[in-house]
Amino acid sequence: MSNPSISLQLIPGDAPISPLLFGHFIEFIENCITGGVSDPGSPASDASGIRQDVLEKAKGLQPTLLRFPGGTYAGIYHWMDGIGTLANRRKRRNLIWGGINDNTFGTAEFVTYCRKLGAEPMLCVNMASGTAQEAADWVEYCNGEPGTYYADLRVADGFPEPFHVRYWCIGNESYAEPDLGAQHNPDRYIADAWEFTKHMKLMDFSLKLVYVGNPLDAAWNSRILESLAPVCDYLSIHHYSSEGALGPYGPFSGLLEFRAQLNEMIPVLHRASDTARPLSPWYRFPGRQEPIRLAVDEWNIWDSTPRGEDNRYGLKMTYTWRDALWTACMLNTFAAHAGDIGMANLAQMVNVLAPIVTCGDQSYVQTTYHVLSLYRKNLQGRSVRCTFSAPSAASLPAGLLPVLDASACLRSDGTMCLFLVNLSQDTPLEVVLPETWTVTESTALSAPAFSSFNAPGTETVSCRTSAHPAAKLILPAASVTAAILAS
Ligand code: AHR
Repeated sequence: MSNPSISLQLIPGDAPISPLLFGHFIEFIENCITGGVSDPGSPASDASGIRQDVLEKAKGLQPTLLRFPGGTYAGIYHWMDGIGTLANRRKRRNLIWGGINDNTFGTAEFVTYCRKLGAEPMLCVNMASGTAQEAADWVEYCNGEPGTYYADLRVADGFPEPFHVRYWCIGNESYAEPDLGAQHNPDRYIADAWEFTKHMKLMDFSLKLVYVGNPLDAAWNSRILESLAPVCDYLSIHHYSSEGALGPYGPFSGLLEFRAQLNEMIPVLHRASDTARPLSPWYRFPGRQEPIRLAVDEWNIWDSTPRGEDNRYGLKMTYTWRDALWTACMLNTFAAHAGDIGMANLAQMVNVLAPIVTCGDQSYVQTTYHVLSLYRKNLQGRSVRCTFSAPSAASLPAGLLPVLDASACLRSDGTMCLFLVNLSQDTPLEVVLPETWTVTESTALSAPAFSSFNAPGTETVSCRTSAHPAAKLILPAASVTAAILAS
């Protein structure tokens, strides 16, 4: 088979790439938190029940942001159940995902975990069965200076310094009719969201708020933005690509849908940012200061078709190397829209739709883990527009995607980093750089086949680094490459 050669054009832009694109998410869902992050009694856990093997693997991802406690679960979460003496924590049935939450992993444990990872905490408030006052009290518990009731509860829990939690989600997927909560109607969501906003912002002006958007409903997004633009820092969109009805390459069809949704949503976002009325001083807290950005605060491949009793919602996903290539294409999408996508959280971090999986007292990482960590180390600085013309990927259904998917960034030390995905299953690709740039080092991840996957004790992804100056790159078949360029 011939070895196609593709020439790249690189046009540096000025949009900063948000470090918060490397967020993760943990929810009380099956064994993500209980039995994953926290596993009291396991020989792999420390005295406080935190799984050390999972923590070490999570550190390898260097998450910048961690979202908690849901997801859908947020609609039944009452934060006061998860504070104070462990023995007194309130046990509740997990009515959403099954099992019991003993609430031994609560707010302080979550923030402590974030600190160990170097991640900013991000909390999602309960709009379904909670109140605006309860949410504001949570803000006070987290961020208040000692001297008032809820802040003093934090002090009594052993944390005199405020947690300074800046990022708060005002509800989760409220448009989803089967979920708890009366906010399926956008007018109701807006009315309630304003009430939560007022209570929470009066408690702490510095909060950055994320409101519920719906990538499948342009009318919902317009309504939310028309009303909430004066305070909306981020509009949330969730994206799960899946096989389902879309066939074996469904995730790539999902990727195209997601890119089309972004192209539709971004102009709406810009209009809302530019035309929002200023907040009247009678609100007594400042309005939004910066342009509204998207928060892709749940994203992954998830085929939720039930697969029997022990995998009722398809949450135990095994990610193949093909899925890892898809993950790289999603990260390329975030990089290409750096000015408008302000944060992203992979859903989820451990066991459920996750790059880190426990298996009894052992754990291992899925194929996607390596791609996430490669991008985390290299994608930073400012966006670069990367254009090229390439034939369609023969490994995917006809015409679905070009064989090359790419993004690039310009870093503060003047180096550029290129991220290149070769979607051909069997043919290497030659990529020619503009004359002004030379490759100084490149790291390529690959696996034997699209269908390769990891299992306990079996690692299928290999990583090859080369440091020879060159004007072009040869990308192995089915690979993800990060190449450092100097001018
Ligand atoms: O990540 C699993 C679930 O997917 C989350 O709880 C929910 O927000 C989404 O529908």
